[in-house]
Amino acid sequence: MDAAGHFLSIADWSTERLTQALDLADRLKADPASAGRPLAGKTLAMLFTKSSTRTRVSFEVGAHQLGGQALFLSARDIQLGRGEPIADTARVLSRYVHGIMIRTFDQEDVVALAEHGTIPVINGLTDLLHPCQIMADVQTIREEFGPDLSGVTVAWIGDGNNMANSWLNAAARLGFSLRLACPEGYEPDAATLEAARDATSVELVRDPAEAAVGARVVTTDVWASMGQEEEAAERARAFDGYHVDAEIMSNATEDAIFLHCLPAHRGEEVAAEVIDGPASRVWDEAENRLHAQKAILAMLMGG
Ligand code: CP
Ligand code: NVA
Repeated sequence: MDAAGHFLSIADWSTERLTQALDLADRLKADPASAGRPLAGKTLAMLFTKSSTRTRVSFEVGAHQLGGQALFLSARDIQLGRGEPIADTARVLSRYVHGIMIRTFDQEDVVALAEHGTIPVINGLTDLLHPCQIMADVQTIREEFGPDLSGVTVAWIGDGNNMANSWLNAAARLGFSLRLACPEGYEPDAATLEAARDATSVELVRDPAEAAVGARVVTTDVWASMGQEEEAAERARAFDGYHVDAEIMSNATEDAIFLHCLPAHRGEEVAAEVIDGPASRVWDEAENRLHAQKAILAMLMGG
């Protein structure tokens, strides 16, 4: 199966295929019944080695709404968690189910699952990437500003983490501008940054206010991602000042919106006045996980 038969990274899909998914997500949101039951008789295995609320529930509900079913498989409970190789897990699951969604630490494990299995694999978050989230985020931006994103600047404030890397991949493919403000030592993945710089306008700055100037979308994420809990105190010091509050938002355009993948820490990376204020679209963004992922499921598993 070629890379477009999986969804491991936004960078693996062409602009056309991403746009097709976003258009389908819009149609599924407007008219859920229009999808029919493309997953009838099919099963999605959902493998989790990290926690989840939105990803788990939206994939499970989405598969059900498309006529299929989803299996929640915690690594704590399956043999993967006791050391069964990912390649063997891929071979075995491929005999039972029709697609796998995985949330784990190492992107290489997701790639290995795709390599050794014979069914589509969807990346539900790794330390490196969070592509499904960015599809929902872009759907939310399109709802606000229309499908032509060429005039949109997105400001990313904070950690150069999995979300930042997937924002870079999306900017490269979909042609919006991206300005990232990250503290020293917390920049995004270097290769991902370079690839995006070759494709669109990408700026990396230190000052969050500078990143927000003229942005139509301001977005951020937690200072310590899953798996970085022990670094939380050190990160809290490094990210002092990387806080999206009303003052930061005042640098953005008047119609700017605020996005956050959630879960959020009010008083840390974002002020309550912003996430709970009029510019916030975080609940639409969370809802759009369902629609965007249904589009991906239908495209990959719908036949
Ligand atoms: N945004 C996101 O992926 O949420 P969960 O961790 O709850 O799945
Ligand atoms: N960067 C966060 C995103 C959670 C959805 C993490 O990886 O924990």
